[in-house]
Amino acid sequence: MTTFAEDASYVLVGGLGGLGRAICRWMASRNCKYIIALSRSGMESPHASSLKEELEGNRIKLAVFACDVGHREQLQSVLSLCAESLPPIKGVIQSAMVIRVSSKDIIGGGEDADKHRTT
Ligand SMILES: NC(=O)c1ccc[n+]([C@@H]2O[C@H](COP(=O)([O-])OP(=O)(O)OC[C@H]3O[C@@H](n4cnc5c(N)ncnc54)[C@H](OP(=O)(O)O)[C@@H]3O)[C@@H](O)[C@H]2O)c1
Repeated sequence: MTTFAEDASYVLVGGLGGLGRAICRWMASRNCKYIIALSRSGMESPHASSLKEELEGNRIKLAVFACDVGHREQLQSVLSLCAESLPPIKGVIQSAMVIRVSSKDIIGGGEDADKHRTT
């Protein structure tokens, strides 16, 4: 059975999305004590406060940061903050993705590749 080290932090990219929230709860059920949730909206996410309250009621620290993981400087800055205030990171789960598809792609045009941006 998967369990998490009590004295470690785990990064969950997209941790406030649908999949991310389900993974947060699963991690909590497997002894995880420190979860770092990254999303571009951070605490502005409509799910941030309720998830934080829910987990912290069970003595699980949910550290929420606004961070675009496609932006190296933002990520470095958040990881530095984490290193100062949380146990060492022992794992990362990636659950974020944005897919943009244009109608041109759907009908077979392949010239719009530049308009795609995936995380
Ligand atoms: N839900 C499912 O049942 C399911 C099943 C199979 C596969 N998937 C795939 O799993 C992924 C997540 O699904 P989901 O349902 O959880 O989607 P979702 O609810 O849209 O959540 C995506 C999360 O990723 C964050 N995010 C997006 N771009 C980011 C970036 N550049 N940096 C940091 N965070 C970013 C979003 O927050 P912000 O917008 O605030 O950044 C959000 O918290 C998707 O790729 C989906 O296709 C989902």
